[in-house]
Amino acid sequence: MTVRSGFVVVANRLPVDEEVTSTGRQWRTSPGGLVTALHPVLAVRDATWVGWAGGVGGAPEPFDLDGIRLHPVPLSADDIERYYEGESNTTIWPLYHDAVEPPTFNRRWSDAYRAVNERFADAAAEVAADCATVWVHDYQLQLVPAMLRARRPDLRIGFFLHIPFPPIELFMQMPVRVEILRGLLGADLVGFQQKLAAQNFVRLARHLLGLRRTGTTVDIDGRTTKADAFPISIDVKEMEELAASSEVQARARQIRAELGDPKTVILGVDRLDYTKGIELRLDAFGELLEEGTLSVPDTVMVQVATPSRERVEHYEELRVRVEREVGRINGDFGHVGVPAVHYLHQSYNRSELAALYCAADVMIVTPLRDGMNLVAKEYVAARIDQGGALVLSEFTGAASELRHAFLCNPYDPDGVKDALVRAIHVDKAEGRRRMRLMQRYLRAHDVNRWARSFLAELGAPEATG
Ligand code: ADP
Ligand code: G6P
Repeated sequence: MTVRSGFVVVANRLPVDEEVTSTGRQWRTSPGGLVTALHPVLAVRDATWVGWAGGVGGAPEPFDLDGIRLHPVPLSADDIERYYEGESNTTIWPLYHDAVEPPTFNRRWSDAYRAVNERFADAAAEVAADCATVWVHDYQLQLVPAMLRARRPDLRIGFFLHIPFPPIELFMQMPVRVEILRGLLGADLVGFQQKLAAQNFVRLARHLLGLRRTGTTVDIDGRTTKADAFPISIDVKEMEELAASSEVQARARQIRAELGDPKTVILGVDRLDYTKGIELRLDAFGELLEEGTLSVPDTVMVQVATPSRERVEHYEELRVRVEREVGRINGDFGHVGVPAVHYLHQSYNRSELAALYCAADVMIVTPLRDGMNLVAKEYVAARIDQGGALVLSEFTGAASELRHAFLCNPYDPDGVKDALVRAIHVDKAEGRRRMRLMQRYLRAHDVNRWARSFLAELGAPEATG
């Protein structure tokens, strides 16, 4: 019998990925910021999470993990190709990120997107108790709010978009633009990372559907949809405690030693994604070595690039370009046993990430566009010694909050180089001051506050746990 919950999360991915090995099935934490962000919220609620388990074909039976009920939704090989790799990650992802790579439009992908969104809506309708709160997440599932409302008008439906919402001119390129907008408007509350995105959304509702609005509330079908900004954050306390542990501190010292105890360690940690600006930061580092402003082995860079969406063409091409550039820089400036760039195309557990953050003098985060960027926030939270410096692109959601970072325009190579050099040479007291101010901000704006404020605005009942 289906277990029904008063609180349901619907996201493309479950918090764990299925890994089928010769010895049976295993579960491991799935990639991306969403899982990291939602875990603390769910841990204190009697909740079901509806999502894809990462495999192909038939879904595993619903099961419990760490007190959360997981309800897998199946995706066939065709669904993965058309809904996930196609419409979600070759159409919507690039379009919503300022079209930094050109989006491709394909009718069969849109059909699959619709069909898979129906499947998620069916699953959510099945597991939601009477008058439950359902929180739908991200760009893969924008049609679900309206589909769910049609099936279950008793539900309270929230939607949160983790990525940027584009300006009207870009959104208008979408062949299925009316359907997507109507899909989102099925929610009672639509949350965005930034105020500007919420404004884009309500303007679009007027422009495309002629809907009346008051402030950021839109009238539709005799009810209202409210749009607002809820900048997502991290579990600050968890990161602080992790960073304070003796294991992580010892590992951080070991990492520095393994890097040859350089004066300066520069660190980048990203999914290998073309929105993250990995190439431009490698170029900036390469030019600084070329000019002699920086030199190896005094300064080394570590770039962690988590494998992501590897069958999507733009991602395959990016990997080739990044690896070629790393090779070029190492060929030109490395020494025997001392590469200039340590490139790691791997996933790590949270302790290893925390140790990397603690080991880095400068964290470099240079997306061309990013909804938020949790890595920047994690780095700040991990620096319990108030050391380190953050170089941060103005085109991230995080830049609106972490105003004491070394902000830069990623489209301006000299600006990036300048921010990097200033971060490397920042006076110790000034560096600590900046870090302290950012930490104070983050402690007051952690992920619990994010979730609580979204759910309060949605009118969801308080957590029971
Ligand atoms: P995005 O959601 O676009 O991937 P974010 O920076 O917002 O970017 O979130 C990325 C999340 O994934 C962070 O919580 C970060 O700690 C985690 N992460 C990034 N790289 C790795 C990695 N190599 N191994 C494990 N987790 C990673
Ligand atoms: C970003 C998106 C998430 C997504 C994650 C990982 O954080 O906002 O929705 O889950 O990237 O990407 P993937 O395609 O592997 O799920």
